[in-house]
Amino acid sequence: MTNTRPNFVRNCWYVAGWDYEFTAGKPHPRTFLAEPVVFYRKGDGTLVAMADRCVHRLAPLSLGRLEGDDIRCMYHGMRFTADGKCVEIPGQDMIPSSACIQTYPVVEKGSWAWIWMGDPHLADAALLPDARGLDDPVWVLKSGQLDYAAPHELINDNLLDLSHLAYVHVASFGATPGWITQQPRTTQIERGVRVERWVESAPPLPPLPSLAAYESVDMWASYEFLIPGVFLMYTSLHPPGTAKGSNHAAPAGDVLFSNFTCQAVTPLTAGSSRYFFSWGPGSQFGGEEIAQQMIDVAMAAFLEDKLIIEAQARIIAMSPGEKIMPNAADRTVTIFQRMMERMKHPASTSS
Ligand code: FES
Ligand SMILES: [Fe+2]
Repeated sequence: MTNTRPNFVRNCWYVAGWDYEFTAGKPHPRTFLAEPVVFYRKGDGTLVAMADRCVHRLAPLSLGRLEGDDIRCMYHGMRFTADGKCVEIPGQDMIPSSACIQTYPVVEKGSWAWIWMGDPHLADAALLPDARGLDDPVWVLKSGQLDYAAPHELINDNLLDLSHLAYVHVASFGATPGWITQQPRTTQIERGVRVERWVESAPPLPPLPSLAAYESVDMWASYEFLIPGVFLMYTSLHPPGTAKGSNHAAPAGDVLFSNFTCQAVTPLTAGSSRYFFSWGPGSQFGGEEIAQQMIDVAMAAFLEDKLIIEAQARIIAMSPGEKIMPNAADRTVTIFQRMMERMKHPASTSS
């Protein structure tokens, strides 16, 4: 049979959702990488994922019924175990060995549920990105998600080039031109890139009493962007002059405020994506109220991204054959895109 599946990186962990989405007692249908997937919890709480497609006549198992740790297709009643094996065909004694549903490795770690949609033998929990959970004691994190009518690659590109803050996020983040005039330092790391930069003369936000004495601050922003689209960013605010005093290397000395954000992009189909995010202050700098303010501002910013990225996707769809013209800010985008291409074609030796 011809493989007509869209060309996704498969041997990696994708975020399937927040653990709180997958409530016990019912199947949860999803579409990831253009494949129908059903999730449910076994009696002991373990999350399982399998193709949302009965082997009989391809009806969705998510319209089925949980029976203990099994799921029964509610079209003609075939019953499957959590490892996808058919154990009952009503009206028939013989169960063919081929009556199996494809299952996917799933791991829940720190509030995030991850799914591996490639070769299950390569699924390795050691490859999970270090996305912090909502109960992480170091940070006070709030969470959210947004669906995009745009390919996941365009959202990855956006997160790999934060120069867009200077234009897209002036209203939400109060971003200054420093995001585009001060070039970041990019380092290739295992399964991704690290991007570090100072933004000098940044506004002292959020409006905290501890920042009120400053007209502006120096902001250090350091993030990792990991295969297939996981963004982990640490940001800290420092007294003016810290960037120059550190020779624009990683900061040492007083931290006025810090925050952390985890974001992840998962393709739903070739042209649609789900964007998961958390954000919040270091626990010594703020509690629930500051965290809520930050996630509200982040949501406003992410809607700014969604507006331009979905519009960009529509233009690209109408522009077959048109090529992009990379500029200096695209260096990190290009490095990461090459890593993704190599993972789609692991046998390739081209750079
Ligand atoms: S389609 Fe599932 S039992 Fe018939
Ligand atoms: Fe953005």
